[in-house]
Amino acid sequence: MDRFLTADDLAKTLRQDVREGLTGTPKTLPPKWFYDERGSALFEEITRLEEYYPTRREREILAARAPEIAAVTRARTLLELGAGSGEKTRLLLDALAGTLRSYVPVDVSGDFLEEAAAGIAADHPDLAVRAVVADYEQHLHLLPAGERRLIAFLGGTIGNMPPAARIGFLGGLRATMGEGDFLLLGADLVKDTGRLVRAYDDADGVTAEFNRNVLRVINRDLGADFDPSAFEHVARWDAAEEWIEMVLRSTRDQRVHVAGLDLEVAFAAGEEMRTEISSKFRRERMEAELGASGLDLVAFWTDEAGDFSLTLARPALD
Ligand code: AVJ
Repeated sequence: MDRFLTADDLAKTLRQDVREGLTGTPKTLPPKWFYDERGSALFEEITRLEEYYPTRREREILAARAPEIAAVTRARTLLELGAGSGEKTRLLLDALAGTLRSYVPVDVSGDFLEEAAAGIAADHPDLAVRAVVADYEQHLHLLPAGERRLIAFLGGTIGNMPPAARIGFLGGLRATMGEGDFLLLGADLVKDTGRLVRAYDDADGVTAEFNRNVLRVINRDLGADFDPSAFEHVARWDAAEEWIEMVLRSTRDQRVHVAGLDLEVAFAAGEEMRTEISSKFRRERMEAELGASGLDLVAFWTDEAGDFSLTLARPALD
């Protein structure tokens, strides 16, 4: 396993993010800190909820299109950013079996990565599996080079980046790509507002627990005394930005002490702290943003219902 990011780097980034986020106006916390062990388990639970369609829809598209992806890309290396649950990866690995030589799962946390990589290596004895611990917004240029790489960024996580960061990310990715490389990008689509909001505010309250989990992470890792039950989960559609916004709303006037940062923070009753945006796309915007980043759209697929998208892109020849 290659490490471009140590536990120490991560701890430092958490401290910076939390200090910045809690002292800013309005208060914010970046969504990357949801995913400790409990948060990752909660997210897995979300993907099985009736209301949360993206995972299921993306799997449907992958199952239908993996053979085409393999035929067009003839990839030798599959680089997966934010190596997620094994199932979607397996669809790709099986379809690419004829040309694929190596699999490179990339994630900010080494904990789950090592296990996932070992499972895949066991099932694909001829595949060179090389896990990389890296932050894909920082370390793109350090990822293994090679001919005919397929870089997969699935799940719709690109939607968590605000537009400016997204353009920076795509441009950075483009800069690392060679002629024979492809990008496979999963992105959720704009749709009926009711369905969008329900996907982020499920009846069982799993997403609410997932949202509040970031407070538990800060309590544990930075010695804070957040009372998660004093924050309400809110998910709403921003029609102008075309994103779902998740916030935690303080149910009362309260003060929170973050011992590890020597920081005291006041929340007013009703005050909202943004914890995530999840942008929803249209084909035109996807094509335009890729184009602005020097990438040509090769294919744009959706599931039967038109809920979710998978885009295949390659460097534009200039
Ligand atoms: C893992 C970032 C794709 O934005 O839909 C799920 C995270 N947040 N429910 C998403 C999430 C609330 C998810 N991504």
